[in-house]
Amino acid sequence: MDKPLNDFITALPKAELHLHIEGSLEPELMFKLAERNDIDFKYQSVEEIKKAYKFHNLQSFLDIYYEGACVLVKEEDFFDLTYEYLQRAHADGVVHVEIFFDPQTHTDRGISFETVITGINRALAKGEKELGISHKLIMCFLRHLSEKSAFETLEMSLPFKDKIAGVGLDSSEVGHPPSKFQRVFEKALDHGFFTVAHAGEEGPPEYIWESLELLKVSRIDHGVRCLEDPKLVDYIVQNKIALTVCPLSNVVLCVYDKMSDHNFKSLLDKGVMVTINSDDPSYFGGYIGENFIQTAEGLDLSAAELARVAGYSIEASFLDQASKERHLKKLHDLVNQYQDS
Ligand code: ADE
Ligand code: ZN
Repeated sequence: MDKPLNDFITALPKAELHLHIEGSLEPELMFKLAERNDIDFKYQSVEEIKKAYKFHNLQSFLDIYYEGACVLVKEEDFFDLTYEYLQRAHADGVVHVEIFFDPQTHTDRGISFETVITGINRALAKGEKELGISHKLIMCFLRHLSEKSAFETLEMSLPFKDKIAGVGLDSSEVGHPPSKFQRVFEKALDHGFFTVAHAGEEGPPEYIWESLELLKVSRIDHGVRCLEDPKLVDYIVQNKIALTVCPLSNVVLCVYDKMSDHNFKSLLDKGVMVTINSDDPSYFGGYIGENFIQTAEGLDLSAAELARVAGYSIEASFLDQASKERHLKKLHDLVNQYQDS
């Protein structure tokens, strides 16, 4: 990619709306934390960790992702993890993040909810102060676990409710439909959390319908399989439901063979509010900037289209209206400057 478009991508004010904080654990930090916490770790070097990153579908990735998360033990570990991510996001021009975390991955190992959320939150506060990045935190339920476990997790989160904006649904999609968690999401909505869900990554369009109708989600995470159902695409466009698409993730996890096969541009052309995100950047070969660059290259997206996508990320965020308008004004000014140059 030529330098000016690359710089333009970095300069675009953008929000990252689909980022699993555990998926930003770089092999170097993973190895360091394994030593620091005296973990009996399967890998003897950073190179060995990197060699294990060969995925053929979502589950093959999740198995390694949960294994890696075992090095996170102390509050400081969650702080280091989150602050490293924020520094990288800042370098890519991210102005606002809505970060997922998976409490059950940690509480099931005996790490307290408080340890996890305090570490993450301390880094988010520092990121806001020192890097100027605003944030929301989204607690995800692991859908391969039971409804009961999700209810217990929701209960555990209540003392920290002021630090959590929303709830989400992630992990192994196929065989675990959103309907399994309808009652938990109803309770979360009663508590005032907004809701999102992974759907239509590997699972069918029906899972997207269920997320919208039963879980009352405000956005769909991934959602790329919506294109198989024209009525669903119409619904998503009419109701301005944003999709938090993760192009590099989709290629690495073999949802598409290569970037030029991705349906991102088709969705954009149909008027879907598609955004670009990094999902689990340390596993999938790049942070949000790299996702923008490779999507632009693979699908021949113009500067105007990239700016539209960045604008959607601000609009689809849970920021207040005044902050959205402030970021969108900066975005429009940048586009005008780029066109004049
Ligand atoms: N957890 C982390 N990354 C995920 C993904 N891409 N899909 C579902 N669950 C996840
Ligand atoms: Zn995800």
